[in-house]
Amino acid sequence: MDFKLTEEHLMIRDAARDFAKNELLPGVIERDEKQLFPTEQVKKMGELGFLGMMVSPEYGGGGMDTVSYVLAMEELSKIDASASVIVSVNNSLVCWGLETFGTEEQKQKYLTKLATGESIGAFCLSEPEAGSDATSQRTTAIDKGDHYVLNGTKNWITNGNSADYYLVIAQTDREKKHKGINAFIVEKGWEGFEVGPKEQKLGIRGSDTHTLNFNDVKVPKENRIGEDGFGFTFAMKTLSGGRIGIAAQALGIASGAYELAREYSKIRKAFGTEICNHQAIAFKLADMYTEIAAARHLVMQAAWDKDMGNNYDMSGAMAKLYASKVAMDTTVEAVQIHGGNGYVKEYHVERLMRDAKITQIYEGTSEIQKIVISRGLLRD
Ligand code: CAA
Repeated sequence: MDFKLTEEHLMIRDAARDFAKNELLPGVIERDEKQLFPTEQVKKMGELGFLGMMVSPEYGGGGMDTVSYVLAMEELSKIDASASVIVSVNNSLVCWGLETFGTEEQKQKYLTKLATGESIGAFCLSEPEAGSDATSQRTTAIDKGDHYVLNGTKNWITNGNSADYYLVIAQTDREKKHKGINAFIVEKGWEGFEVGPKEQKLGIRGSDTHTLNFNDVKVPKENRIGEDGFGFTFAMKTLSGGRIGIAAQALGIASGAYELAREYSKIRKAFGTEICNHQAIAFKLADMYTEIAAARHLVMQAAWDKDMGNNYDMSGAMAKLYASKVAMDTTVEAVQIHGGNGYVKEYHVERLMRDAKITQIYEGTSEIQKIVISRGLLRD
């Protein structure tokens, strides 16, 4: 099998690596501590094309493949998972969904701005009682002829305040269950649309996560995505690709923590030698590296499936399930290798450990990934 990356892939990976080191690393501890959104850094990522990597150039995007995207996601996530989740949501959940299922008018009006980073998007599915159980939407979108009226609450929305455009999933006809659900493009500032308070989070503290309230928000019919009743399928298909981005984020968090632990182990001395010379530490590094390599194969497989036009529901779920576990395990071990220093902010690994946890929760918990995988296995 040929796992060789192209020259273009390597250039994109290196560009993301340089950007992460030069632009994300300075200030990453302060942004985490004070929950500061990386406004300047997001602007620069837009200018460099990281926010619409896979969007066709016709709509202002980079026209790149999914392999390029996961390579960039890994590099950005090694340093700053708060910044990389913004990249992931904008690329996978918002731009991909709009480009694949939106009308030409929607693409011209919204996608062109989202792909260049002039505007930022958010994906609004989760609700107080419908996080994993996505068919149980309580937010309603009542059909009033030429418009819908949106009412309800969305929770834990990434880019909740920083977004300009929101893809909102809501129930139009409860009787029809998942076939009565629609997806809409909602603009910030529309009457009745309120951004609620910011969540105080364990990790990815630089990204802004909010509750959103919709009180009789009038949404023009031309802002519905797809045919009437397409919203649940839209959300599921979009999330299938999103999971590849989050898997790459988890992979990046794991490799970032591993690299820091390896470097530290070569400098820190105990019992008369650098700690990497003790098998207790060397074996940890061997396990971390092996698991990261396995996770990378799954992430690449899923990205490649998407690029080849293969079904990637299962491979994306497998990549996310495994890479997020590796992110958690690796970051815990990286803190352990750092000892007391691992527990303080300036060594970065404690932040990576806190950031790792969300990769087992958002865009479907690990349990949801197992549902997707096992259903795929047992389908025939
Ligand atoms: N593509 C297309 N259609 C799909 C699909 C997919 N990947 N997955 C399911 N469907 C379709 C099914 O075929 C079915 O349609 P038909 O009845 O017409 O055949 C329909 O959707 C309902 O499917 P299920 O009966 O399987 O639905 P379910 O409720 O039993 O479970 C689930 C499906 C996989 C558990 C789903 O609910 C799910 O993925 N839940 C998790 C949602 C999630 O990821 N939430 C995270 C929020 S977003 C987020 O975190 C973003 C962020 O800010 C970072």
